[in-house]
Amino acid sequence: MKIATNKLSDLYEFYKNELSLIYDEGELYSIFELVCEKYLNYSKAQVKQHFDENINQSNLINIYNTGVELKKGAPIQYILKEAYFYDLTFNVSNAVLIPRPETEELVDLIIKSQTTHNSPISILDIGTGSGCIPITLKKHLPLAKVFGIDISEQALEVAKSNALKNNVDVEFIKQNILSNFLILNSNFSIIVSNPPYVLNSEAKQMDVRVLEHEPHLALFVEDNDPIIFYKRIIDLCDKYLEEKGWLYFELNPMYAIDVKNYANDSKIFNFTEILNDMSGKQRFLKAQKK
Ligand SMILES: C[S@@+](CC[C@H](N)C(=O)[O-])C[C@H]1O[C@@H](n2cnc3c(N)ncnc32)[C@H](O)[C@@H]1O
Repeated sequence: MKIATNKLSDLYEFYKNELSLIYDEGELYSIFELVCEKYLNYSKAQVKQHFDENINQSNLINIYNTGVELKKGAPIQYILKEAYFYDLTFNVSNAVLIPRPETEELVDLIIKSQTTHNSPISILDIGTGSGCIPITLKKHLPLAKVFGIDISEQALEVAKSNALKNNVDVEFIKQNILSNFLILNSNFSIIVSNPPYVLNSEAKQMDVRVLEHEPHLALFVEDNDPIIFYKRIIDLCDKYLEEKGWLYFELNPMYAIDVKNYANDSKIFNFTEILNDMSGKQRFLKAQKK
């Protein structure tokens, strides 16, 4: 693995030579931009303008080593220990899922649903991971009282570091949503969740980068009860969601209708709607309590 000179353009050539079997060109260039942003402090627009520049030894080593890690299959966000979500930056480790664009859409739905961004509502995020959902909501709905729960102690540590990083106050609580549920504030205006929703049997078709690096606790559910988390959260809405309060889910499109039917059968809601994501998949459920 050789780099011709320490010009930025030659580093990019090195990435292309080593990584073009793993990433297509567009993806690879976006990754290279993220690496330059991290180590050289260049904005995306500046990267090409600096292609003829000589890179100093320590930056050269960092960018080279990042290329070596990428070749082993690690996602760029775990290598840089950072991910962008909505308009914020989050710490990530392999104890948390890398926040996804679909989840940005979910958060956007909630933010846009609030006609006034200064009403004192309360929000609960179930299965919070990096804390990307509650932290972004708190940033945009500053008067909201916001809570995030997760079963994983390590994920909660990452979420707490992200609340500090983004300078917001979110209360994080360790809870197993499938066992006894105890939380002091019992009347939330909004309950939101992006729970584990990939079937164990779907693992075979998954990208190895996801499979080998992201936490299985965050991804998978048993095939014999694929909507177990959704059913449990819908049941909890009876007690923990206030009258006229809203439930928002990110869904596995294969089970969108099942989740909607379960919500309708529960008779807790007066309105349920499935919404598509940007790629046209049935990805979100929005429901209002009676
Ligand atoms: C799909 S990830 C979502 C993470 C984050 N909210 C996001 O959208 O990027 C699901 C999360 O649920 C958590 N989780 C899994 N089983 C749980 C349980 N029984 N109780 C509470 N949280 C659980 C996982 O640790 C993981 O952080």
